[in-house]
Formats: sequence, C-alpha cells, structure tokens
Amino acid sequence: MNEVAGKFEKKKLGKIFLTAPGPSIKQMFSQLLRARKDPAGFLVDMRIKYGNVVQFPLPIISIYLVTHPEDVDRVMRVNAKNYGKRTIQYENLALVTGDGLLAADTDSWKRQRKLIQPAFHHEAIMRVGPDTVLVTDRMLDKWEKLSNNSVVDIDDDMMHTALEIVGKSLFGTDLAGDVEKTAQATLNALDIIVARARTPITFPKWMPTPNNKKLAKALKQLDGAVQRILDERKKIAGVAGVDRDVDMLDLLLAAHDDEGGLNSKELRDQIVTFIVAGHETVASSLTWTWWLLGAHQDVQKKLQKEVDEVLKGRAPTVKDVENLPFTKAIVDEALRVFPPGWVVSRRSYEKDILGGYEIPEKSVVIISPWVTHRHPAAWNNAETFDPNRFMPDAPTPQKGTYLPFGIGPRMCIGKDFAILESMLMISRIAQKWELSPAGGVPVPRALVMVRPAGGLPMYINRRN
Ligand code: HEM
Repeated sequence: MNEVAGKFEKKKLGKIFLTAPGPSIKQMFSQLLRARKDPAGFLVDMRIKYGNVVQFPLPIISIYLVTHPEDVDRVMRVNAKNYGKRTIQYENLALVTGDGLLAADTDSWKRQRKLIQPAFHHEAIMRVGPDTVLVTDRMLDKWEKLSNNSVVDIDDDMMHTALEIVGKSLFGTDLAGDVEKTAQATLNALDIIVARARTPITFPKWMPTPNNKKLAKALKQLDGAVQRILDERKKIAGVAGVDRDVDMLDLLLAAHDDEGGLNSKELRDQIVTFIVAGHETVASSLTWTWWLLGAHQDVQKKLQKEVDEVLKGRAPTVKDVENLPFTKAIVDEALRVFPPGWVVSRRSYEKDILGGYEIPEKSVVIISPWVTHRHPAAWNNAETFDPNRFMPDAPTPQKGTYLPFGIGPRMCIGKDFAILESMLMISRIAQKWELSPAGGVPVPRALVMVRPAGGLPMYINRRN
C-alpha cells in the first residue's frame, strides 16, 4: 500500500479529475524529449519521483502508471475482469495483427484463447526442439566461416534466427529464403505502430501519408508471407502419404467450437500475431542474454560447464532442459533485467482503488515490467544481473514482482515455447562459442520491444 494513500486531494483538469500524484502539465512538457528518447527510463524516474501510482496530466483521458507489485497483481490477475485492452497501444497493434489473440479485447479474446490454447500444450511445445537446433546450427555454420575474434551483430543474428524458428516450428514453413523480407516487413509495421503511439495526431489508415504508405507496404508483405505459409500447407495436405509431424498450423486449422472453426480472416490474424509476438520478443531476450553473458564472463564460464557436463558434446534436446537449471536461471534473470515487452496497458471498465488512489472508470493503466522489475519492493539490488535468484533452491518470487510474460488470464500463451527455444539456442551456442562485447555498453531502445540502439556487436571465438 502506498504511504500517501488517501491523502491526495482530487482536482479537476479539463474533462477529467486528477486523483493521484504526478507531474504538472508544465513539468510534463519539459520532460517530453526525455520521454521520447528513453521512455522506459522516464517511467522509472516517474515512479521514483511520484510513487507507486502516477497520473499523467492529460485533460481528456485519465492515464496512470502503476508499478507496485501488489497493484500490478490486482490489475493483471486479481481484478483482471475489470481491465480490458481497449487502449491506444493495442488499437494500434491491431492495425497489424487484426483481432488476433494479443490485441483482442475481452469478449472476442475469450473464445480465441479457448480455441488456440491446445496448440500451445506441453506436447505441442515439445516439437520446437529439433527445429530450434537445426536453425541455430544454420546460423553457426555461417560463424564457422569466420575467423576467431570476428565481430558479429548478435541482435541481427538473433532476429533472423528467431523468425526462422517461429516459421518452421509453428507453421512447418521454411522461412529462410524469405526471412529478410518478412523480418523487415514486421519491423516496418511495428515501427509505424510506435510512431503512431507517440504522435498526438494520427491520420486514418486510408490517407496516403508517408507512414500510412509504409504501413500498407509492410502489411502487404506480411500478408504475402502468411499466404505462402497457407499455400505451402495446402500443397503438403494435397500430397498423399507425406509423413510429417502435426504442427501449430494444423492445430489452428483443426480448432473449432460450437460456432465453428477460425475463418480465413481469423487465421490470418493469428498467424500474423504469432509472427509479431513470437519473433522480436524472443530475439530481444536472446540478444540481451548474450550481452549479459559477455559482460559477466564468470557466468558464461559456469554456463559452459553445465552445458558440457550435461550434453557431453551432443546437440541439446527438449529432454535435456530439466537438467540445465543454470541455463534456465540465466534466461529467467535476463528477462527480469531486460524484459522485451517493457510496457503493457489496460483500460478500466469500472472504478477501482490502486495503492489507495481512485482509478476512475475508462482510465488507461500503464504497467511496465521494466519498472516493476526495478522496484525496491520487488527485488533487492535490482540492477544487478544475478541468475542465482532463479535457481531451484531460491525462494519463489512474490506475486506481481516478475512479469516478463505478463500475469493473470492474459499471460503470454507462448511462454513455455519461448523459454524452451531460448534454452536450446543458448546451450547450443555456448557449447561451441565464447562471446564477449566488441563495443561500449549498449543503450536500450524501448520501442515495441527493448532492443540495443544500433545493434549489438560482439566478438565470437571458438572454444578450445
Ligand atoms: C521472450 C519471449 C516473449 C516475451 C517476453 C513475451 C511477452 C508477452 C507479454 C508481456 C504478454 C502479455 C501482454 C499483456 O498482458 O498485455 C504476451 C502475450 C502474448 N504472447 Fe508473448 N512473449 C514472448 C514470446 C511469445 C511467443 C514465442 C509467442 C507465440 C508463438 C507469443 C504469443 C503471445 C500471445 C498470442 C499473447 C497474447 C495472449 C493473450 O492475451 O491471451 N509470445 N507476451
């Protein structure tokens, strides 16, 4: 509970009431540049300056930043039914993903989640193993052609590899040839979403502004990639006797309830959602993991030791992951220090009380895993990278303190998939290669995901 709870005197501002502390309009203007340049750092500052519940002084809509673990847990889990996704963030995302699972608001979401959940069950997820190793090895084959002490852009390599893995393991499609185009189309579309979210005036999608044209082009490319995925499936489905494993696309195509299955628009929206949600997130997390391992050589050595002892030189399989607790702890801790999805948002249906402050109906509530992971009520020495926090003998994190995948009913459906993929990739790379930083300390750039500004150059060296 916030110590100044209840002491705040409500004030009117335009059409809304100010019900919690926060910057004045003047202070907000003076911070605009900082907020644009480093939005995640700006939110941390706001928390430090104004407390657990901060209200931004917008005269038309009430916007709150909520950071204390107890309040975060209330919004996302305990009282989740009071909070939907009708926010600028998700409305903009829906321009790309349509009404797919990630951006869907409450009612449409419920049906979709039930339909799609089986595709992410344990058994289905386990299929990610061989594809992850295959695609990682393809990346490592390129490294093999380089001499020791070469510099690679890890951010770039992780982006390409993560996209290929999503394509192959979810949709059985080899996106390798198309990877460049699809990756660029996804990024372009997401860039425009960020630009829209940051501009006070946005033009309707049909107006031929440069950004709208760029969005239309990116969407055309993404839709083209989806069509290729579906065409390929039709080709395989038409060939009798083709022996292959059931993948996510089969499960999506087979999913049905009383209202029937997913129609072609719904299928398109889910596939684009999985490409968007399952690509840059994993890539960002892996990129930061390698940066942290490069900056903490002692941790990298311990990782190598675990990997060598468990795998004895052979490629990792999904069965190995339970025997790689330190590798798992590294993944978990990297996601704490650098949560790729640094901000999520909700819209309240009815009035609520958070940290002792009134949150009126129809307010926007901003939750930032980045800020809460740095909150002193959540973690000690929050800025320190320490995988031991997540070793099996460490205490379980308190509710609302750890949310790289969100919490509550809208929690990431791809969590287990992402962790498995990350563990397999990291262990495979660590088996053969040693990485160290080749540039200065990277500056986190918080757009849709947090990525290092200008990429992440690292030296690669063969082990032994
Ligand atoms: C490290 C990797 C990942 C991170 C950090 C991550 C993060 C998140 C977060 C924070 C949310 C919750 C958003 C909210 O509450 O508003 C979410 C939801 C979601 N994620 Fe992930 N994600 C990752 C990987 C994946 C993968 C691999 C997939 C799919 C293949 C995926 C698909 C989704 C979907 C569909 C949702 C919406 C779930 C729902 O509302 O029912 N994510 N993710």
